[in-house]
Amino acid sequence: MKLAVVSCSLDPDSRSRLLASRAHELLRAQGADVDWVDLADIPLPLCDGGACYGNENVRAVKTRLREASGILMGVPIYNFDISSAAKNLIELTGRDVWTGKVAGFLCAAGGRGSYMSIMQIAASLMLDFRTVIIPRFVYATGHDFTDGRITGEDVLTRIEGLTADLVRFTNALCA
Ligand SMILES: Cc1cc2nc3c(=O)[nH]c(=O)nc-3n(C[C@H](O)[C@H](O)[C@H](O)COP(=O)(O)O)c2cc1C
Repeated sequence: MKLAVVSCSLDPDSRSRLLASRAHELLRAQGADVDWVDLADIPLPLCDGGACYGNENVRAVKTRLREASGILMGVPIYNFDISSAAKNLIELTGRDVWTGKVAGFLCAAGGRGSYMSIMQIAASLMLDFRTVIIPRFVYATGHDFTDGRITGEDVLTRIEGLTADLVRFTNALCA
C-alpha cells in the first residue's frame, strides 16, 4: 500500500508545509511507503483543460500520485477555500488520481473563522471522483507555531489522529 503527502503551498515559509512534513515524518516512522510531493519544487502550469495535460511535470506528478492509495494534502486557506495551487493540482490530476482513493487535509489559516473552508473541495472530490474523505482534518493558525515549529499541542495530536486514520481507512478500502 502506497501513500503520499503533498505540500501545496508555494510560500518558502509555509506553515501548511510544516503540518504536511510532520504527517510525512509520522507515517515514515510507522514504516509506511509514503511519497513526499512539494508543489514549491515542481512548477505546474495552470489548468487549461487541454494542453496542460501534456506538460512534463503534470505527467510526472500524476504518475506519482496515481500510485498512492491514500493522499494527505497540506493546504493554505486562501479566500475561504484551499489555495489556487492546491485546487489547480486537483484540476490537473483529475479522476485518474482521485477516484477510489482516500484523502485527508492539513490546513494552515490566518484565523479560526475559516475552519469550514475545506468543505467545498471535500464535497467536490466526493461527488465528482468518489474520493473517500477522512472525516477529520487538521486546522492550524499562527498561534500553533513558534519560530518555524509546530507548538500547538492540539494540532500535534490531530496530526497523529489524521495519519492513523489515513492508514486505517486506506488499509480498509484498498488492501
Ligand atoms: C491571498 C490570501 C488569502 C487568504 N485568505 C485567508 C482566509 O480566507 N482565511 C484565513 O483564515 N486566512 C487566510 N489567509 C492567511 C493564510 O491562510 C495563512 O497565511 C496561511 O499560513 C497560509 O498557508 P501557508 O503558510 O502554508 O502558505 C490568506 C492569505 C493569503 C495570502
